Amino acid sequence: MRPLLIVKRIYLDSAATTPVAQEVLEAMLPFFSENFANASSSHSQGMAAREAVEISREKIAGKINALPHEIIFTSGGTESNNLALKGTAFSKLRGHIITTQVEHSCVLNSCGWLEKRGFDVTYLPVDKYGIVDPADVESAIQKDTFLTTIIHASNEIGTIEPIREIGEICRERGVCFHTDACQGFTKVPIDVEKDNIDLMTINAHKIYGPNGVGALYVRSGTEIEPLQHGGGHEFGLRSGTENVAGIVGFAKASEVITDEDIRRMTTLRDRLITRLSEIPDSGLNGHPTKRLCSNVNFYFKDIAGEALLARLDSKGIAASTGSACSSGSGQPSHVLCAIGLKPEEVSGSLRLTLGIYNTREEIDRAAETIREEVKLMRKQGCLCEK
Ligand SMILES: Cc1ncc(COP(=O)(O)O)c(C=O)c1O
Repeated sequence: MRPLLIVKRIYLDSAATTPVAQEVLEAMLPFFSENFANASSSHSQGMAAREAVEISREKIAGKINALPHEIIFTSGGTESNNLALKGTAFSKLRGHIITTQVEHSCVLNSCGWLEKRGFDVTYLPVDKYGIVDPADVESAIQKDTFLTTIIHASNEIGTIEPIREIGEICRERGVCFHTDACQGFTKVPIDVEKDNIDLMTINAHKIYGPNGVGALYVRSGTEIEPLQHGGGHEFGLRSGTENVAGIVGFAKASEVITDEDIRRMTTLRDRLITRLSEIPDSGLNGHPTKRLCSNVNFYFKDIAGEALLARLDSKGIAASTGSACSSGSGQPSHVLCAIGLKPEEVSGSLRLTLGIYNTREEIDRAAETIREEVKLMRKQGCLCEK
């Protein structure tokens, strides 16, 4: 038998999910075994679980300058976005929502579902970097607009939106403002007061916490109905026995990424961008500076992105095309289409998302492998169909 060549894999898909950090795992473990009680039970074990949930709530609230009772724990980003959109819509029964063409599919599909039930939705365009113009938000506001929902930072191209300006406009016009901050939470400073945010979606598995737990920040006084009815957990907004271990892990995860990690990731991101820019007929998708410290998204003209992805995988590099949540749909990325890429650029795009554990050696090896593979594919004629 041929000996297996063991090559350490390079994980560049941190926007899809991250590993659970050791300290997060250690914080969670007791809540699967000795501290397993239901946080609603009135005995002392239940009270200990409740205390762990409430300490976690305070910790997460503190990260975004919110009050603890404004944090509603959910099963993740998808549920929080559904609660924000449908919960505010159900409190109104009819009216108008403003969003953009570059939202995560759980926002776009919730909007589509609400449209079928009689709500009006405006999908604002973005510029070539993926940025929405606050003036467009202002002019889209109608008498019956009750919600503006705009992604904080793109999961695909990493562009950070002008949330504060948009929030200010919504505040002045009396429109509730929701932002999906799953990608930016703890990587970009967010202050719900200064940023004029009324509702905000965050989750754990993008920041070295577990899958299946997230939160919706709900400003006190926001008109919102629950989607799930039951025992009245989470201030009546999200019934269901709390995922204590997950919530404790989420709170611990909110402390994992340090300022030093952000500086290091930014340096590695820019190094990767510089190296990939040397490849002929290629270019950066998204904004050069108003972008997440972790995101690199590149197009390689005429290359079949899915084929490039498979070749990189076989060389030990995990990356993605489009977003992991919608991959497999066979549809071109709606975000790359919205920023005006040509079809041959959309299909030749690759997303490489860094995490706190990536090293400079990994970035250099990834850049070199991509350069070689793109060159080889162009030579072999493995190009995308036009
Ligand atoms: C911007 C954004 N919103 C929402 C989600 C969905 O979050 P979850 O996987 O926790 O349901 C994701 C994750 O892919 C995301 O990147």
